[in-house]
Amino acid sequence: MVIGAFPNTRLRRLRQSAWMRDLCSENDLTPSDLILPIFVREPETSPHIPSMPGVLRLTLDELIDVVHQAADAGIPALALFPTTPVELRCPDGSEALNPDNLICRAIQTIKSLNLNIGVITDVALDPYTDHGHDGVIINGRVDNEATIEILQQQAYIQAKAGADALAPSDMMDGRILALRHYLDDRDYADCLLISYAVKYASSFYGPFRQAVGVQQLSGLKDKKTYQMNPANSDEAMREIAQDIQEGADMIIIKPGMPYLDVMQRAAAQFNIPLLAYQVSGEYAMIKAAAQNGWLEEERTVLESLIAFKRAGAHGILSYFALEVAQNLSA
Ligand code: PBG
Repeated sequence: MVIGAFPNTRLRRLRQSAWMRDLCSENDLTPSDLILPIFVREPETSPHIPSMPGVLRLTLDELIDVVHQAADAGIPALALFPTTPVELRCPDGSEALNPDNLICRAIQTIKSLNLNIGVITDVALDPYTDHGHDGVIINGRVDNEATIEILQQQAYIQAKAGADALAPSDMMDGRILALRHYLDDRDYADCLLISYAVKYASSFYGPFRQAVGVQQLSGLKDKKTYQMNPANSDEAMREIAQDIQEGADMIIIKPGMPYLDVMQRAAAQFNIPLLAYQVSGEYAMIKAAAQNGWLEEERTVLESLIAFKRAGAHGILSYFALEVAQNLSA
């Protein structure tokens, strides 16, 4: 005779009251889990991002107040993205190498505040190229080696401006090793490399592209020759293994919620800090539903974020980070 666990075991017994649920909670979410992405702009650029209601592009002046709020709420780090004025964009993204560009001035502005908050900057050319791709196009393809040469210089000027961590999101092969050596040779051995090792060619980046002013990709119609196929997760493990070997300090998996299986596999397989990126399209979906009264925003956001912790993420980049951290620390 098979003897069932019931009635000796009643799993509902542990759910009766808040104290039991809190005590037995397997994961928790704290402000120190959250990284806030911020779009910075020149004063002439509009602050509004229609597909990301509630997120504004910030001038360097406006940035100061938000950075103080983030530090006060216990957020450990910010991820900065520039909206480069259209007239400064060109095929090889040379504005990325201008030591006085918007992103370098943003880094300097934040570091001059002397707060206990990390500054992470993106290493990739898409906010600077007129075609919107992450690298330079040669003979009809995004050229791996030519792009890496530019990324090395981009990384160097960001490190020089004071960035604590650089996050290459370009998906060129071998860029982690190339950047690591380039930085080490120039006295930036302590600058972290947070690799977007696993970055899918995703439709969920749409609102981000609007935010940084990439209207439409040209040259190549999509990023599928360098970003990953959403059908794959073995390949994601290879990307992570390779970037760890090349010297990555942390790994980002993005987008977030559609790829929780990839996060879970990565957490089981690797002993390295893993970050999930709840990307712009995920933000837009929750926000739009909430604005229509179809979802209750605060609870939905918390549920979406704890899911990343459950899957094994050590931290989460989210456009909701500031309000969530403020609520959690209130
Ligand atoms: C590009 C980059 C993208 C994002 C971060 N860095 C977009 C892209 O690859 O087209 C997307 C982030 C988001 O959607 O929130 N280097």
